[in-house]
Amino acid sequence: MCPIWSYILYDHMTYFLLLFLKGSANIVGLLSVSFLTNCSFSLFSMQNHDEIQEYSKDQYNDPNNLENRINLWKYGTNPISMSLWIYSKFKFQENQRVLELGSGTGKLWQENLPHILPNLEIILSDVSQMMVDKMKRSKLQGQNRRISFQQMDVQQIPFPDNHFDHILTCHMLYHVPDLDKALSEIFRVLKPGGYFYASTIAKDHLQELYRILQLFQLDIIQKNKKFSNFHIQSGLSRLQEIFPEVTVEYYENQVIVDESKIDIFMKYIQSMFPVKYFPEYASYHGGIREKLLQIINDEGEFPITGKSGILIAKK
Ligand SMILES: C[S@@+](CC[C@H](N)C(=O)[O-])C[C@H]1O[C@@H](n2cnc3c(N)ncnc32)[C@H](O)[C@@H]1O
Repeated sequence: MCPIWSYILYDHMTYFLLLFLKGSANIVGLLSVSFLTNCSFSLFSMQNHDEIQEYSKDQYNDPNNLENRINLWKYGTNPISMSLWIYSKFKFQENQRVLELGSGTGKLWQENLPHILPNLEIILSDVSQMMVDKMKRSKLQGQNRRISFQQMDVQQIPFPDNHFDHILTCHMLYHVPDLDKALSEIFRVLKPGGYFYASTIAKDHLQELYRILQLFQLDIIQKNKKFSNFHIQSGLSRLQEIFPEVTVEYYENQVIVDESKIDIFMKYIQSMFPVKYFPEYASYHGGIREKLLQIINDEGEFPITGKSGILIAKK
């Protein structure tokens, strides 16, 4: 999921361009290091909007994909789940209006039901009607809370300017083809003084897994073209261009994969490579499993680290 390889490719292209333009080894050296660590230019313009949109639509038309991925982190070593951690960052007050975009199955709210202020007006939304229907059938429905559900695209939010006190996007902006449009829509419907929260992955999320996938001929660069560039580090730069105040906090979780968790982990990996886009994955699945089992036999376990965070912006 993490677009590491596209950054590396992009950074190298930038490096050679600078070499050509500046002709000074020192300047190029300094700038290339800054690109490798900062990745301040967006890959976004190089990517295919339709490809990103279609991939996301296909992924979330089947809620099992998301559930298989969430399932793995239940076995994490962090005693606080990501949903509880994210919720603890919100600055909600009685009677305020909250909009979540790309809510998925509504897991964040299901886990935090006891903490939800009864007078909050909450709209949970997703571009996928399937996800909206799933939320409507969940335990969120029928609670003594002001929660409603709506199909909505973050690139076109059907509300007037300055309407919401809080807007949330959790691990979803990297699925959005037109990030500029999405962020300008969020800014538009947020009240002055209101908060925008965006949780997302960090650049080195799942790094151990990417090292294994490299051994197989899976086309990670092709895969990363199906995502927009919105991880914590690039997201921070983008939000700082728009919002006067932005802060960031990190969340880490590690799953120690042993033989008992290998099948859960393999389901996770499989969900990253849908057959429609990666028909070749089927022929590597067995090999990846064997490689992981070999590491587990040799070393006793295979630790996998999830690194995420939350960006909190004030309008
Ligand atoms: C990785 S899931 C995250 C779901 C949930 N926020 C969570 O953290 O469990 C991404 C969600 O964003 C939704 N999504 C993708 N593109 C969207 C868009 N343009 N507008 C609104 N939602 C979108 C998908 O349908 C999917 O449910």
